[in-house]
Amino acid sequence: MKPRQILVTSALPYANGAIHLGHLVEYIQTDIWVRFQKLSGHECYYVCADDTHGTAIMLRAEQEGISPEALIARVHGEHSRDFAGFHVAFDNYHSTHSPETRALAEEIYAKLKAAGLIEVRTIEQFYDPVKEMFLPDRFIKGECPKCAARDQYGDSCEVCGAAYAPTELIQPHSAVSGAVPVLRESEHYFFRLSDQRCQDFLRGYTRGEGRLQSEAANKLQEWLGAPHENKLTDWDISRDAPYFGFEIPGDDGHGTGKYFYVWLDAPIGYMGSFKNLCARKGLDFDAYWGKDSSAELYHFIGKDILYFHALFWPAELAHAGYRTPTKIFAHGFLTVDGQKMSKSRGTFITAESYLEQGLDPEWLRYYYAAKLNGSIEDIDLNLEDFVARVNSDLIGKYLNIASRCAGFIAKRFAGELADVEAEPLIETLRDGNLHQRVAQAYEERDFSRALREIMAFADQANKYVNDHKPWELAKLPGREAELHTVCSLALTLFKRLTALLAPVLPRLAEQVESFLNVPGFTWADTHTTLPVGHKINDYKHLMTRIEAKQIEALVAANRESLAPTAAVANAHSQQRHAQHQQASEDRVQQSSWEPFITIDDFSRIDLRIARIAAAEQVEGAEKLLRLTLELGGEPGPEIRTVFAGIKSAYDPAALVGRLTVMVANLAPRKMKFGLSEGMVLAASGNDGHGIFLLSPDSGAQPGMRVK
Ligand code: MSP
Ligand code: ZN
Repeated sequence: MKPRQILVTSALPYANGAIHLGHLVEYIQTDIWVRFQKLSGHECYYVCADDTHGTAIMLRAEQEGISPEALIARVHGEHSRDFAGFHVAFDNYHSTHSPETRALAEEIYAKLKAAGLIEVRTIEQFYDPVKEMFLPDRFIKGECPKCAARDQYGDSCEVCGAAYAPTELIQPHSAVSGAVPVLRESEHYFFRLSDQRCQDFLRGYTRGEGRLQSEAANKLQEWLGAPHENKLTDWDISRDAPYFGFEIPGDDGHGTGKYFYVWLDAPIGYMGSFKNLCARKGLDFDAYWGKDSSAELYHFIGKDILYFHALFWPAELAHAGYRTPTKIFAHGFLTVDGQKMSKSRGTFITAESYLEQGLDPEWLRYYYAAKLNGSIEDIDLNLEDFVARVNSDLIGKYLNIASRCAGFIAKRFAGELADVEAEPLIETLRDGNLHQRVAQAYEERDFSRALREIMAFADQANKYVNDHKPWELAKLPGREAELHTVCSLALTLFKRLTALLAPVLPRLAEQVESFLNVPGFTWADTHTTLPVGHKINDYKHLMTRIEAKQIEALVAANRESLAPTAAVANAHSQQRHAQHQQASEDRVQQSSWEPFITIDDFSRIDLRIARIAAAEQVEGAEKLLRLTLELGGEPGPEIRTVFAGIKSAYDPAALVGRLTVMVANLAPRKMKFGLSEGMVLAASGNDGHGIFLLSPDSGAQPGMRVK
């Protein structure tokens, strides 16, 4: 067999958020496939990178008060740590903010331009006059023009699913500054996807044998339309400053002042990462990316980014003189207990928290594998089923074989194995072609079928052990040889099972290698027998059961209470800063403010106008001022004492006599310095600097209700 040359990618995760269990579906799926290819002896490289450009990353860095470069460097470390924690073994994990990707982006752009596929056009776009920047659709919010749902993004409605232009939104506002956006003209660069050459190429390309899964091929047909239709529209590939990305070079050697849109350089990041690997490993870049490459190129992606990978990307490559992807493998989205991951339910689970809770990453790898079948269907992580499945398959079936037999080999036979080659069970297995069926299932990314085959084999092995009962043989005189054979055969089957499972459970496979005293597994180990007299090591515990309470703790650790939308400066909330920061992140990354509260929830908070009658320093308190508040009322004003964390921003003398807003029905709380009977409201930025006490418009009186 001639080894295949295979280059594999997973989508490049955005550098503005943490890796979560949804992402891991893709990286685990790809990693299993890559490990299978490597185990089978092929030359296979798996590259990925952080996707570092765009407005969201620029704004996030600004929010954190650091440079975008510092942000992406930190996130690169976090992402690398999380992937390693789940045994996702990239050959290279690079960054799109790299010299390789920049050079390739410029080169591809120049070639497309030379081919007459780039056009400059003036367009009108929403502009934030306060923040002084053009607004991406996702940073404009307003009412849906179709169903009037409020607080919808500029490109589509999450309530009715309608897609529209941001200019169609009713009462649009900038999600960055809150300002009403204005339309402004600007020159943009377009990739002419509507050009006949692109149409013709894509019609042929997308019909390529096995190129796309059937569901994806149907989608593409829909997007391309009938041959006489021209449904593809040109693609806007530039963005105006301020932007974090690569500047588009001009003809005169100077910059154009425009930047490549993140989606232009993101897939080029696949090439950039591989180029970087080539330089380090002395590999031939062109053998994989050159027009005449005979290597295979596969992109694993989520179904949400099919348009970019099946249309723009191949068209771009083909017209810039590169090879195009062999196949594109899309997967569905993760749901947890049948629902979209949710921060309030605690099912928006980060990779970091899973590992921090001490859960075994191979449990999740096994469960995902058991659910993945190579289609675009969504996959559900049912937490109860997760516990049951892992315990029953991995502990109850697979490990049970070794744990019941290993001890006898060590104690009774000096760790040496008997001859099992002539055993009837081995004969039967020889004809079964199990390893070929499993190999085919892995190749087709039908991991669930692979695991069904493997677990059926584990059942057979367990039945063999149950039928021969080594624990009874061990007590019977004269049955030594039989005991030896039974245990040796069971361990040979265990070795085969482990090799079959190795793409899914690489860590466990390594531990089994050292227990069985064999060098690194290859696919041959899925159907060979350990030699007579082979000496194994003592069996050590390989994996623990999952306890349901561990999952409860994981969900609890990820559950977020409703974060305040405005910071509250008071002695009760020392965590204000962190919570507010999280709330802002949610706004950029997640599409909602859920869980919403009802008007009834809100009306339970009794907000009142209060006059600050006195304000004093508190001895020994770093952040607090003691405020005496008057709430109005008959016969005399009601007086409250409140400790507020506003010392850094206000001179007490300047506060006296001012009106502000307080939460009047907050349960009193005993503090080190005395009783605090409520709290005052203040706005605050994310950087921890600046606290802005609220004041009512003139005319408001102490004691008035705020609602
Ligand atoms: N940066 C782009 C990809 C650029 S590729 C040249 C992007 N990043 S992402 O971080 O949003 O997503 C990375 C991958 O994870 C995508 O393939 C996406 O589909 C996948 N997933 C993100 N959330 C997911 C789930 N909840 N479930 C399954 N996969 C999901 O898109
Ligand atoms: Zn709508």
